[in-house]
Amino acid sequence: MQNCSLKPMPDRAEPIFTGEPELGNLYNTLRRVFREAEISTPDLDARLLVTETLDVTTTQLIANPRLTIDADQIAELERRARERLAGRSIGRILGRRAFWSLDLRVSDDTLEPRPETETVVELALTALYPPEAPTLIADLGVGTGAILLSILSERLAAYGVGVDISYKALIEARRNAERHNLDGRSSFVQANFGAALAQTFDLVVSNPPYVTTADIATLEPTVRDFDPRLALDGGVDGLNAYRAVFDQVPTMLRPGGTLVVEIDPAARDAVIYEAERRGLEVVAVADDLNGDARAVSLRRSMV
Ligand SMILES: C[S@@+](CC[C@H](N)C(=O)[O-])C[C@H]1O[C@@H](n2cnc3c(N)ncnc32)[C@H](O)[C@@H]1O
Repeated sequence: MQNCSLKPMPDRAEPIFTGEPELGNLYNTLRRVFREAEISTPDLDARLLVTETLDVTTTQLIANPRLTIDADQIAELERRARERLAGRSIGRILGRRAFWSLDLRVSDDTLEPRPETETVVELALTALYPPEAPTLIADLGVGTGAILLSILSERLAAYGVGVDISYKALIEARRNAERHNLDGRSSFVQANFGAALAQTFDLVVSNPPYVTTADIATLEPTVRDFDPRLALDGGVDGLNAYRAVFDQVPTMLRPGGTLVVEIDPAARDAVIYEAERRGLEVVAVADDLNGDARAVSLRRSMV
C-alpha cells in the first residue's frame, strides 16, 4: 500500500463527453481528462473503462474508432468516469479484479487485491511439496479469497479454510470460490483470525491489516477512502494482527508446518522479531516485483 501526498481530484460540473459519440473520440477524451486529473495510469484506466463499459475489445478500439456509441452507454461511461475522478479504483468501479490467474469479485466490503500479494502465493506454493500431496490450508483475513483461491487453483489436492472477521467479505470469498469451481475444496468461517479453528493446518497464510493507524490518513485516496478500514488498520505500530496470528500458531499450525505472511517492507525486521520471539524460524523472505521485501515464510519447530 503506497503512501502519497493528498491531491484532491478536480470536481467537474460540465459533462466529460461533448464531441462526436464515436468510440475513438470517447476514449481519447477520457485519456485526456484522466491525464489532466493526474491519475497515475490514465491510459490504462481509460481503456479498461471504455472496453468494459461499451463492451468492445481493445482491438476494436484501435481498428474501429468511428464506431457510433449510443447515448445510454455514453451516460454509463460518464457515470463511471466520474467515479474514477472521485477516487474509486477501476476494480471497485467494475466490481472485479484480476489476481494470479483468477478474475475476482470485489465489493465495498473487501480489500481490492494487490499485485504484490501474489508474492505470498508464490512463497506458499514453494512450501507445498510435493504438489499433489493432500494439504490443509488456512487463510487468516481471507478478504476476496485472493490468496487462498489462487493456491487452491494450483494445488488440486489441497483444501482451504478462509477466515475473516467481516461476514460481508466472507460472502464475496464464497462467491469467488463458486465462480472458480473451488467451493468443493473450501469453506469460510467468521472468526478472529485462527481463534475459532479446531483443526491443525499444514500451511497458514495471511495478509493481515498492517498499516499503522497514524499512516492511514496518508494513504492515497483510492485506498484510504475505499478499502475497508478493517482491512488496513494494524494498530499503533501496525503489528497487532501479526502478534495475534503468531500467538495462535501453536494451536493451529502442525509441528514443522509453514506460515506465510505479507508484510510492509518497512516492517520487515519488526515482524521477524515478533515471530522469532515466539519460536518461529524464518525460512525465506521474498521480494515483490518492485524489489521490496513483501512476504515472509516462517516454520513452526517440529516439537
Ligand atoms: C489486508 S486485507 C487482506 C485480504 C485478502 N487476504 C488479500 O490479500 O487481498 C485483511 C483482511 O483481514 C480481515 N481482518 C481484519 N481483522 C481481522 C480479525 N481480527 N480476524 C479475521 N480477519 C480480520 C479484514 O476484514 C480483511 O479482509
